[in-house]
Amino acid sequence: MSAARRWRTPVCERLGIALPIFGFSHSLEVAAAISRAGGYGVFGVARERPDAIPGLIAKLREAVGDAPFAVDLMLPAGMPADDAEAEAGRAGIPAAHRAFVEDLRRRFEVPAATKPHFFSHTVRTRALFAEQLEAVLTADVDGVATAVGLPVEVVARVRASGKTTLSLVGSPKHARAALAAGADVLVAQGCDAGGHTGPIGTFSLVPQVIEVAGDVPVIAAGGIATGAQIAAALAMGAQGAWLGTAWLGALENRTPRALLERLIAAGSEDTVITRAHSGKPCRVVRSAWSDAWAAPDAPAPLPMPWQHALTGELLAAIEEHEVAPLVYEAAGQSVAWLQGEAPAADIMARLAAQTDAALARIAALAPRG
Ligand SMILES: Cc1cc2nc3c(=O)[nH]c(=O)nc-3n(C[C@H](O)[C@H](O)[C@H](O)COP(=O)(O)O)c2cc1C
Repeated sequence: MSAARRWRTPVCERLGIALPIFGFSHSLEVAAAISRAGGYGVFGVARERPDAIPGLIAKLREAVGDAPFAVDLMLPAGMPADDAEAEAGRAGIPAAHRAFVEDLRRRFEVPAATKPHFFSHTVRTRALFAEQLEAVLTADVDGVATAVGLPVEVVARVRASGKTTLSLVGSPKHARAALAAGADVLVAQGCDAGGHTGPIGTFSLVPQVIEVAGDVPVIAAGGIATGAQIAAALAMGAQGAWLGTAWLGALENRTPRALLERLIAAGSEDTVITRAHSGKPCRVVRSAWSDAWAAPDAPAPLPMPWQHALTGELLAAIEEHEVAPLVYEAAGQSVAWLQGEAPAADIMARLAAQTDAALARIAALAPRG
């Protein structure tokens, strides 16, 4: 039996994948490449308009054939009901916050955005989530992952549609709630991770989630970028590893040059947890954006979804014009291993070979005789 076969965990059989490597990406091309390489591509659609989702998923299915993949939705609680409520809330954004953002625009000479962008036009509402969910449920996807909130009825509806539910959890308490809701797979995401996060580190979180999960498979996420770390996750009892930051270095992600350079230059200490991105704690690569919001004279970031309602247009402009000092993206402490661009299939092959080597090293430690 080859080394690669030895780490085919039960979740591989269950999901129909060759390797228990899960890859989250907002890029359809990256998610497709991960699934084609034998992993489980997870395509983030939280930043997509509901009417665009069916076409995107159809394109992803065409790209992967029969290989399984999931899509990921963010379903935070406490959002406004609909666009009318969102507009009323937008009107209530304090003048001091608007002035702070305008000052940032002036100081960094950010030209106006010319292209439409999700956050410059959209406020997260319950109506939006309902439409996104509807689009996903009726599409040809194998799994649905949910993060930042987990309405119980969503798990039931996803399961009723015959799809696998994967739930990202950041604490044993969240894990219990996801299990009670009926989640098929738990993704224990530690605070080393890029993106929205709780306070518990991956090495402390994963074993605790495994303890409460019983027979439900647990995938480890947060800070994983090498095969040795995947082997460590397996050694803890996780059935696989879930990576996000690593794919910002995938060629298919077409990461804008200024952002790519920032990510390559960054070490683990250059990421920060800030509410200045979305209003909820989110780990990002540090830039003048997170620094400005952390300054003593800065206003406190607004709660989700109002922080994006306030900053969406400026963030879109920063991204479009690649305003180097300000560009940033969600990124985890694993950014230390992002040292250049490579095709996603090459990243998958490197991870698989490294995991083989790490497991062989551990096997060699076993007592003989
Ligand atoms: C750029 C980026 C965007 C992310 N967006 C989401 C998201 O929309 N939904 C989600 O469930 N997780 C999101 N995440 C978190 C990932 O799913 C994953 O848990 C995390 O990246 C794992 O840790 P790592 O970044 O150290 O690999 C994002 C991560 C990154 C790096």
